[in-house]
Amino acid sequence: MDLSSPRGTRDFFPEDLRLRTWLFEHFRAVARSFGFEEYDAPVLESTELYIRKAGEEITGQLYNFEDKGGRQVTLRPEMTPTLARMVLQKGGSLSLPARWFSIPQCWRYERMTRGRKREHYQWNMDVIGVAGVEAEAELLAAIAAFFARVGLGSADIGIKVSSRRVLQGVVSGLGVPDEHFAAVCVLVDKLEKVPREAIAGDMAALGLDDAMVDAIIDALSLRDLDGLAGVLGADHAAVVELRRLFALAEAYGIADWLVFDASVVRGLAYYTGVVFEAFDRGATLRAVCGGGRYDRLLSTFGGADQPACGFGFGDVVILELLKDKGLLPDLPPTLDAIVLPLGEDVRDAATQVATTLRSKGQSVELVLEPKKMKWAFKHATRRGARTLVIVGPDEWAAGTVRVKDLESGEQRDVAVGDL
Ligand code: HAM
Repeated sequence: MDLSSPRGTRDFFPEDLRLRTWLFEHFRAVARSFGFEEYDAPVLESTELYIRKAGEEITGQLYNFEDKGGRQVTLRPEMTPTLARMVLQKGGSLSLPARWFSIPQCWRYERMTRGRKREHYQWNMDVIGVAGVEAEAELLAAIAAFFARVGLGSADIGIKVSSRRVLQGVVSGLGVPDEHFAAVCVLVDKLEKVPREAIAGDMAALGLDDAMVDAIIDALSLRDLDGLAGVLGADHAAVVELRRLFALAEAYGIADWLVFDASVVRGLAYYTGVVFEAFDRGATLRAVCGGGRYDRLLSTFGGADQPACGFGFGDVVILELLKDKGLLPDLPPTLDAIVLPLGEDVRDAATQVATTLRSKGQSVELVLEPKKMKWAFKHATRRGARTLVIVGPDEWAAGTVRVKDLESGEQRDVAVGDL
């Protein structure tokens, strides 16, 4: 039997889980400091939640199957459709705006590259019920706060920001019907990853000829808002919202992190407004996180739309990046005490001692088999224990136990009642 986990998935041994927990604690601390509440949902969803016709990569990567009841189900590839489903389920009883976060495991049958796996954990923060870019600014500030917490600065990481309204402005000027817009976005996003010829047929199917594709590529090469205003007009919705967002970024003190980059479109069909992604300025890895506004997702599930925006931030790329930069913490195992009975006659006594210490909030390993002192010392080092509590027959008879501080090497007898 092959003992490795399925291709593209990870086992988390205790040493790996310590690191994951460390990362998740930073995710949670940032989300909480921005006033977000945590939610969760099953990893299994109805496949219909992911049926979108825009030709997105994600819909071709579903881990989907029929369950024993004949239902079409999928291991979620992302959290946003689930969030939308939950928001619709609450309906009018959900008080808005809502600020929700979660750290779901997501599954995508990906072609594996560095930073891409078939399962990943994805920190999500979403604001539901706010129409203005104040919501995006808040999310971008949270992302920057996270990076700062783990030791990354704006010289290491940039966040590219644009708006789908930029592409919409260009595309509608070319006479492409609105109903094709989502599919156009998905294709334009692919332009960054595959040769143009590979998607020429798909472009043509949406009514985009070569000259139009040239015009799109041209517009997407814009890197400053004045240039954008020159193309779309100073009072175009995209220009206005992006200017407002960059002004808010100044107020948050995160302007250094942001760069306007018209080429950012994102590959998911449902985005409608501002879109963004964080990238390593050293530029070897894929997007560190990505998100945007999706004001019309809820109606695709048959409900009333709510303005919404959010981001997904995977655990894989960030850990690679922190490793490359030497910013991963050293997280040895820790334990408050190891309790060793010196002989089976005092096993019950040692059990009482361990129970007392645990009830006082200490993390305690009780040695469960007959073991010698030498073994216990070695074991304590492996486990990162701070103290070794030795329960010997003579000390116990005198109402004490021997407590050895493994950092200082000091040792003293402590009355059982004083533990
Ligand atoms: P996404 O851009 O597909 O967006 O993914 C967001 C992030 O998840 C990526 O930037 C990356 O960090 C991580 N990620 C995605 N796929 C993989 C993979 N195969 N392996 C490792 N990491 C991965 C979404 O999923 C949107 N639902 C995010 C969102 C939330 N938008 C609004 N709210």
